[in-house]
Amino acid sequence: MARQVPAEAVFEALGQVKYPGYPSDIVTLGIVEAAEPIPTGGYAITLRQATEREEVIRELAEKVHQALTHDLGIAKVELRVHRVEAELGEKTGRVRLEGTKHIVAVGSGKGGVGKSTVAANLALALVSLGLSVGLLDADIYGPSVPMMFGVGEERPKSAGGQNFYPIEKYGVKMISIGFFLGEKAPVIWRGPMVMGAVRQFLKDTLWGSQDFLIVDLPPGTGDAQLTLAQQVSIDGVVIVTTPQDVALLDATRAVKMFRQVHCPILGVVENMTYFVCPDCGERDELFGHGGGERMAKEEGTRVLGRLPIYPEVREAGDAGKPIVIANPKHPASVAFIELARRVVEGVAD
Ligand SMILES: Nc1ncnc2c1ncn2[C@@H]1O[C@H](COP(=O)(O)OP(=O)(O)OP(=O)(O)O)[C@@H](O)[C@H]1O
Ligand SMILES: [Mg+2]
Repeated sequence: MARQVPAEAVFEALGQVKYPGYPSDIVTLGIVEAAEPIPTGGYAITLRQATEREEVIRELAEKVHQALTHDLGIAKVELRVHRVEAELGEKTGRVRLEGTKHIVAVGSGKGGVGKSTVAANLALALVSLGLSVGLLDADIYGPSVPMMFGVGEERPKSAGGQNFYPIEKYGVKMISIGFFLGEKAPVIWRGPMVMGAVRQFLKDTLWGSQDFLIVDLPPGTGDAQLTLAQQVSIDGVVIVTTPQDVALLDATRAVKMFRQVHCPILGVVENMTYFVCPDCGERDELFGHGGGERMAKEEGTRVLGRLPIYPEVREAGDAGKPIVIANPKHPASVAFIELARRVVEGVAD
């Protein structure tokens, strides 16, 4: 008879198996409920499953078999699936905001590609279309909304109990961890606290009634984005990318992650596509050409807008007056208004 593999080794091997679409492994996520030896020399593995999606369960089963049969040499692996309520947040626990018609998140895989710039200007462009808009800065580690709107010194007023009023500027209601900490204070928090803060911002802010809430997400596709995506009922995600390969790769990852957690992708904004030489007027495609388009096509989504590098965009952001407000006729502002129109169409689909 084959030698019985010890349970520790089984758990160790299962600890290498990532949950499909997640950065964490199935042991850490608490998905492995039991691993018990069976008399014939194999193992019975019980997985707690919240998802109803068969393809996820199939993928998981394959990965478990691979890890135990192939890598560990266990001859017989029985897989049992214990279906539980949507604990990973696929169904329950998502915050729907009373009074908010649409929640749109602006995300990317990579940092520094212009998410916050897009989120801020998109919010303002929606206002210019006559819509009521809120902006939630979910970047707990690097909030940029206070600076971009020039409201770093302001503090939200308490509305009694745990509630507070958002700060309003240029017609946008906004909330950011920066308002509670001061713009320059470093934030050293652990993941669960971050999630608590974001959830609290959503629930405890008196947003009132609004057509859109734009969420400026932190960079990456880690646990923070996932948890946020699961906590909030997001109607659509705008992915921001620059056209270079690393950014595109990260953006693709972000698209896949949001799809896994059922957040519809509205499309891709290709930022910093080229630089127009202010002297000679020539275009310089710093990061290559057409990458965003290709990536969007491959992922079955579309390009919502393209934005060249304009020094005025950065200057306006740094000066606390985003370009859509500072110069509504600037080509970048025109592009943001076009983007806003597409977002409005996108959530209506
Ligand atoms: N189209 C553009 N033209 C010129 N400057 C831009 C453009 N888009 C963004 N920037 C500038 O690039 C810098 C990074 O942009 P931003 O802060 O919006 O990126 P981010 O993706 O939110 O970054 P992080 O990952 O740190 O949150 C900022 O200084 C911003 O003003
Ligand atoms: Mg940002």
